[in-house]
Amino acid sequence: MKYQLTLCFIFLLLNYCFAVKDYLFKSCQQNGFCNRNKYYSNHILGDSNFKSPYYINKFEINGDILRGIVLKNNTNVEFPFKISIIENSFRFKLDEIRNLNENIIVNNNRYNETSNWAFDKNVQYNKAKFITSKDSIQINYNSNHKVIINLNPIKFTFYYKNEKVLLINDKHFLLIEYQRSKENLKLLPQESSFNMFSDDFQDSKSDTLPLGPESIGLDFTLIGFQNLYGIPEHADSMLLKDTTNKEPYRLYNVDIFEYETDSRLPMYGSIPLLTAIKKDVSIGIFWLNSADSYIDIKKSQDSTVHWMSENGILDFIIIIEDSPKDINQVYGKITGFTQLPLLSSLGYHQCRWNYNDIKDVLDVSSKFDEYEIPYDTIWLDIEYTDNKKYLTWHPETFDKPDEMLEILNRTGRNLVAIIDPHIKTGYFVSDSLINQKLTMNNNEDESYHGHCWPGESVWIDTLNPKSQKFWDDSHKSFMISDKYKNLHIWNDMNEPSVFNGPETSAPKDNLHFGQWEHRSIHNLFGLTYHETTFNSLLSRLPNQRPFILTRSYFSGSQRTAAMWTGDNMSKWEYLKISIPMILTSNIVGMPFAGADVGGFFGNPSKELLTRWYQAGIWYPFFRAHAHIDSRRREPWMIGEPYTSYIRDAIKLRYSLLPVFYTSFYQASKTGIPVLKPLFYDYSNSTNSKIFEIEDEFFLGNSGILVKPITDENADEVDFYIPENEIFYQFTNGQIGDKIDNSKFEVKNNDIPMLLKGGSIIAMKERYRRSTKLMKYDPYTLIIALDKFGNASGELYIDDGESINSDYKSINFEFKDGNLLTKSEGNYSLPIEIEKIIIVGANQINSKLGNIFEDGNKFIIKKPNVNI
Ligand code: NOJ
Repeated sequence: MKYQLTLCFIFLLLNYCFAVKDYLFKSCQQNGFCNRNKYYSNHILGDSNFKSPYYINKFEINGDILRGIVLKNNTNVEFPFKISIIENSFRFKLDEIRNLNENIIVNNNRYNETSNWAFDKNVQYNKAKFITSKDSIQINYNSNHKVIINLNPIKFTFYYKNEKVLLINDKHFLLIEYQRSKENLKLLPQESSFNMFSDDFQDSKSDTLPLGPESIGLDFTLIGFQNLYGIPEHADSMLLKDTTNKEPYRLYNVDIFEYETDSRLPMYGSIPLLTAIKKDVSIGIFWLNSADSYIDIKKSQDSTVHWMSENGILDFIIIIEDSPKDINQVYGKITGFTQLPLLSSLGYHQCRWNYNDIKDVLDVSSKFDEYEIPYDTIWLDIEYTDNKKYLTWHPETFDKPDEMLEILNRTGRNLVAIIDPHIKTGYFVSDSLINQKLTMNNNEDESYHGHCWPGESVWIDTLNPKSQKFWDDSHKSFMISDKYKNLHIWNDMNEPSVFNGPETSAPKDNLHFGQWEHRSIHNLFGLTYHETTFNSLLSRLPNQRPFILTRSYFSGSQRTAAMWTGDNMSKWEYLKISIPMILTSNIVGMPFAGADVGGFFGNPSKELLTRWYQAGIWYPFFRAHAHIDSRRREPWMIGEPYTSYIRDAIKLRYSLLPVFYTSFYQASKTGIPVLKPLFYDYSNSTNSKIFEIEDEFFLGNSGILVKPITDENADEVDFYIPENEIFYQFTNGQIGDKIDNSKFEVKNNDIPMLLKGGSIIAMKERYRRSTKLMKYDPYTLIIALDKFGNASGELYIDDGESINSDYKSINFEFKDGNLLTKSEGNYSLPIEIEKIIIVGANQINSKLGNIFEDGNKFIIKKPNVNI
C-alpha cells in the first residue's frame, strides 16, 4: 500500500493514477527468470543450428513407471525424472540432485509438493506400455494415446488416435537452471545471467535469492490448434491472444488494485491449465508449479506455448481427449470436482463494505421483504471486527451476533463474515500464532511482520499442518455455537496481500513450514488458507457443506471454495469483461465464480446497475458488493422503475434455481461448466467464430442460451445461433415461439435469453423470501421440442445443505407425445409438478389432440407425473 500510495500520489499530479499498477508489477523483462528464459528462446529462434543440450542418459522401467536421468551437455548436473500415467493422462516429473547445504536455513531442494495441494485424494494411476530402442522410448496408454520420446536431445511427440497432435521441446526452449554459485557460473552463449543472485526491481531489492537461479522453461507445439483458453486469472478475452512482442500472460497471485481490462497482468488467482481445442481433439496442458510463472503464446497453424516458472520441479500433465468437456472430466478427476454448493449459496448475496452495525444489517434484511425482493445472504466486511482483529466481533456495533443470526435465520437468511490471513499484532490470536510458531517467517526464520488492513500484522502459515487445529479452535469460539448454521466465511487478501511488500505481496525469500521459500509456494498459499478454513468449518459442523468465498485460488480450489473477480469498477467495460473471465474460470474447472455486481469502485449509473443485475443473475456466484466510499446501492435505493427491473431479475434467478442447482450437481460429478461457452457443444463446427464467442453462453446443459446486455443504451440483441438447431424465445423466463430471427429488440427491463429445442427444464415460480422457504414449492416443467418433437432434461433435488443428503436425480424424456421419467435416489419429500408447458407442439399436435392454449404453447395444469 505504501508503494501504491506514494506512486499514486506522484501520478495523481500527472493525472495518471489509474495506470499506476503497471509500475508496481514486474514485466517479463524486469523479472530475472522470465528475462533469462526469453533471452534463451530469442537466441534459439535466431539460430537454426541450435540443438537442445538436454538428453536422456539412462532409464529403467518398473511396472507402469519409467524412471531415468536427464543430463545437460558439458555439465555434471543430474536431473532425475519419472513418467507415469495418471487418470489416463501423461505425467512427466523432473527434479534436480543437489548437494546438502547445512549452512542455510532455507530448504535446499526444488519444491515438489505442489501436486499434494492440487490433487484430489482419490487420484488414480493407470497402466502404461513401454517400447524402447537405442534412441527413443515409445509409451502406449489408454488405447488411443501414444508418446514417442527422443533421447538426445530430449523431445516428446504425442499422438492421439494416430494423429500427431503435440510436440514438446521441439523448439529447444527447455531450460533448467541448476544450482550454482556466483563464482562458478558456466553459461552457454544463449544463456543470460540477468538478476540471477540479486533483484534490481524497485521493490524487490531486498530479495536475498539464497538458492540463486533455479528457473524452468519449456515449449509446447500444438499441431493444428489456434484456439487456446484457460490460465486465469486475467482481465482479458476468453480466447487467449498471441503475445509475440507483447507481455506474456503472468501467473502470480497479487492484490491488483484497480486492475485494468485487456491486460495480461497477473491477478488474484492462478490455474496453470491451458486448453487447446480443435475438431475432434482437445488438449490440456497442466503445469504443476506454484511459483511465479509466465506463458508466452505464438499463434500460427501450429501454435507454440512457452511456459516459464521461477523455481520448483518441472512437473506437467498432458491431457488429450476428444472434446473440451472430456478435458474437464479428466482434470476434475485429477484435482477434484467442485463441491456441490449449499443451495442457499446459489441465491442472491447482498454485500457492501460495510454494514455498520446489527441494526443496519437487520434493517437492510427487512427492506428486502418490504420490497418483495428475495435474497439469501448478507455479508460483513472487515469493519464488523474489533479494530480489524479477525475472529472477534466489535464489542459495540456487533455486540450480540447470536441474536442477529437468530433473527436472520427466521426468514432462512445467512450471514457471511470476512476473515483474512493477516492477523493484527498484539492480541490473543497473533500472540498464540507467534508463540506456537505458526506464522509465515522472514528470511531469518522469525515471524514476518508486514502491513495490511489492521496495520502491523503477522500471517498464519497454513502450510503448517499444526495450523489446522489452531484454526479449528479459533473458529469454534468465534462462531459462537454450533447452533448457528447460517454463519459462513469469506477469505479475502490471501494472495497474500501485503501493503508494504514487493508487488503488493510477501517477500519471495520468506519461509514457510518445511523451510520452503515463499517463492516456491506463492500461487498456492491462498488455497492452503481457504482449505484450512474449509476443514475448520467441517470440524464444527461435519455434515454441513461449508460455504467459503476466496479471492486467491489455485488448481484444486474448486473443491472447497467459490471465487470472485476482485476489485472491479462501476464501468461498462468491467461488466463486459466479467463474462469472459467467468467463462474462463468454468473452462478450467472452477465454475463457482462471480464478479461484484454493480462494480466495486465507484457509483454505477442506474442503467449500468440494472444491466449488471440482469447479467449478474447468470453468474454462478451472484453477489452485489461495493467499496466503502461508494454510495449505498441496495436495489431499493435506485428508485423506480429500476428497482422493479432489479426485482424481476433477482426473481428470475430464483425461479431458475432448480436449473442452477442441477447444473452444479452435474459439474460436481463431471466437471461440465455451469456457464458453458458455445464451443463446448459445437467444437466440430466449421464456423471458426464459435471459438471466439465470449458474450453469449449456455447455462450448463439446460439448453438456456443467454446473451447479457453489456452496452450502454442497447436496444437490440443479436444472438449467435448454432447451425441446425431450433431455439425458442425465452426472454425474461417467458417461453415463446420458435425464433426466426437472431436479432430482436430489448427494452430496459428485458433479459434476453433463448431455450434450445430438445430441452426440458424445471422452474419454481412462486415468490419466496429465500431459498429455504422455497423447499416445498411445486415445479413448472418447460418442454421445448426439437425438430423431431423430442426433448430431454434433468432435475436434481436434495436437502440443499447436507454432505450426505438423500437425493433424487430425475431424467425427463419427451418422445412420441409422452413424457417419461426415470429417477434415481431416495429423496422422500413429495416432488410436485404443477404445470407443464410444451412449445413446438404444432409438430406433434395430432398426438396431443390439438389442445392449445396461448398460440403454439400447450399447457397442462395439475399434470399427473409419476416421479
Ligand atoms: C479487498 C476485497 O477485494 C474487497 O472486496 C473488500 O471489500 C476489501 N478487501 C475490504 O475487506
